[in-house]
Amino acid sequence: KPPILVPDLAARLGLKPFNVMADLIKLGVFPAPNQPLEPEVAAQVCEIHGFTFEREKRDKDKGFHKVEEVIVEPEAPEAEPENLLKERPPIVTIMGHVDHGKTSILDYYRNSKVVSGEAGGITQHIGAYQVSHNDQLITFLDTPGHAIFADMRKRGANITDIAVIVVAANDGIMPQTLEAIKFAQKAQKTIIVAINKCDLPSANVERVKTQLAENGLQTTDYGGDTEFACISALKGDGMDVLLELILLQAEVMELRANPKATARAGVIEARVVPGRGTTATVIVESGTLKIGTPFICGPFAGKVRSLINDLGKNVKVALPGTPVEVIGFEELPHVGDHLTEMKNEREAKALGSERQEELRLKRLKPQHRNRMEDLFTMV
Ligand code: GTP
Ligand code: MG
Repeated sequence: KPPILVPDLAARLGLKPFNVMADLIKLGVFPAPNQPLEPEVAAQVCEIHGFTFEREKRDKDKGFHKVEEVIVEPEAPEAEPENLLKERPPIVTIMGHVDHGKTSILDYYRNSKVVSGEAGGITQHIGAYQVSHNDQLITFLDTPGHAIFADMRKRGANITDIAVIVVAANDGIMPQTLEAIKFAQKAQKTIIVAINKCDLPSANVERVKTQLAENGLQTTDYGGDTEFACISALKGDGMDVLLELILLQAEVMELRANPKATARAGVIEARVVPGRGTTATVIVESGTLKIGTPFICGPFAGKVRSLINDLGKNVKVALPGTPVEVIGFEELPHVGDHLTEMKNEREAKALGSERQEELRLKRLKPQHRNRMEDLFTMV
């Protein structure tokens, strides 16, 4: 394993070596120059600055062993003091087989025409929208049902609180339905089933329930604990019931976040929009994203230049649970990465270059190991 040296650790934390030395002294550790730190000590220093310390695992599947090295990631927000926690909207991901009506459901709620605006009616990317029911907000993520978008469904399942699995009553459970169920279960998310297209004469709700039960989702009317609603996104039947089921589950989950914490948001979509440049749709997890917030996102630094809400309007702030398009990325961020607020642009940039360097080194093969260690000691 490469040694953990003070200058290297400092750079990864966006600090100067003497800052880390000061921490070490407080911890009662006095390393000699170039003396490697114990991982436990490095972990404590990381903790002081809100980072977690991790060592990369060996990757057996890739045919070669990746060099083990030190990586640090901003820590998920630790438990916030009770009095600072505020209720936040549930994040609900709509998943299911292609054409079972996911976008139509959102479309109905938003009373717009998203389906007809899409190329061939097939969702190409995740759309994120907020709807309000009885004065309560719900954040919805639309995901594509096509087989090739498995990755997006997986990421959707991860960022979400509740997964709504849409099954067309005429088609029943199909391959991507099963896959969506699997993702949601694996990510331990609350599942609500929306049996859609109940208006069709060929709808067979009982068959869908049997198929669900066969796949480990016993509906409440069959003595199980999977909530479900029979709906028609086209006609509007059952659509309020579905919203109420969602809000009921959300209430049980007591979803709260501290709007005053360090802002942290998950990237759900990133693209280059002509005229706008690099943009990403994020969902704020904690804190408040504001115009001017400097941030780090994976290996890239940035600063929030504009925030655009789901209605296409410019906004000044985005609270926890809110989806928002962010302009101000240095480069196209990776979907699934987290945007974390930094104290200032300088620190964001320093951490960004540090991470880019880290990635560059990671791409080098194991035979470069010695050189990499040299580099670490040289920093
Ligand atoms: P992908 O994004 O491609 O995975 O599809 P999707 O699940 O978003 O399906 P979408 O909402 O695009 O709907 C597919 C087709 O089903 C459209 O032609 C809709 O008009 C139709 N549809 C959706 N909901 C209903 C419904 O409740 N009843 C009937 N009869 N048709 C529906
Ligand atoms: Mg769709």
